[in-house]
Amino acid sequence: KGRQDLQGKQVLISAGGTREFLDPVRFIGNPATGKQGIALAIAASLRGATVTLVLARSAVNSASLNSAIQVIVVETSAQMHHAMLENFGKADITIMAAAVGDVRTASYSDRKIPKALLPESLALEKIPDIVADLAKQRRNDQRLIGFAAQTGNQTEVIAAAKSKLERKQLNIIAANAVDSQQTGFAADTNQATFINDAGVQVTTPLCSKLELAHRLLDFGLNDFK
Ligand code: C5P
Repeated sequence: KGRQDLQGKQVLISAGGTREFLDPVRFIGNPATGKQGIALAIAASLRGATVTLVLARSAVNSASLNSAIQVIVVETSAQMHHAMLENFGKADITIMAAAVGDVRTASYSDRKIPKALLPESLALEKIPDIVADLAKQRRNDQRLIGFAAQTGNQTEVIAAAKSKLERKQLNIIAANAVDSQQTGFAADTNQATFINDAGVQVTTPLCSKLELAHRLLDFGLNDFK
């Protein structure tokens, strides 16, 4: 048993990648594996928090998780949005680590669309931003943390993350490059730069996703007692 610095705290985490179905057998998805978000749930739980994990499609079997972590399994961004709103009010710290889809088809068919009837192009609509929506309801005693998965060099990654921190009104953003083998989707290691709303910036070494999770919790707890 290590530090119990999250004892008595409620932590809400989203992880995995959403799937946006056009019919029951076809979807628009992304390569997220849920590993970083699950590592965050494990780290927070080890540190004494009561953890709720809203888990979209992931490479990790949710049954393998510590039974102390309450897991809510979702598939689509709409289901994730609903679950996050429902659990946000009681959360002291919310970490949005999920890769939420950016677009979905404008219509859904509850029967498989025959191949011959599939259109040559799909009408898409933008998916509402979940974390930005949570930020609008945030109380001063709540911390809201987002992720920014970016491609490009360190300067570009950090610039994009800073603008997301402001646009989405977050307390903290964890910026990480996803165009490297060691830090991208599905890797067991990661590296990130944490930036808070006071402009404090910390870059982690390349480390395991569990270590990165602990470092992000440390960073978040520094200005939050
Ligand atoms: O804008 P971008 O998708 O890069 O922002 C990433 C951050 O925003 C992540 O924390 C992600 O979980 C969150 N997000 C969200 N709802 C969306 C898209 C992203 O909450 N529709």
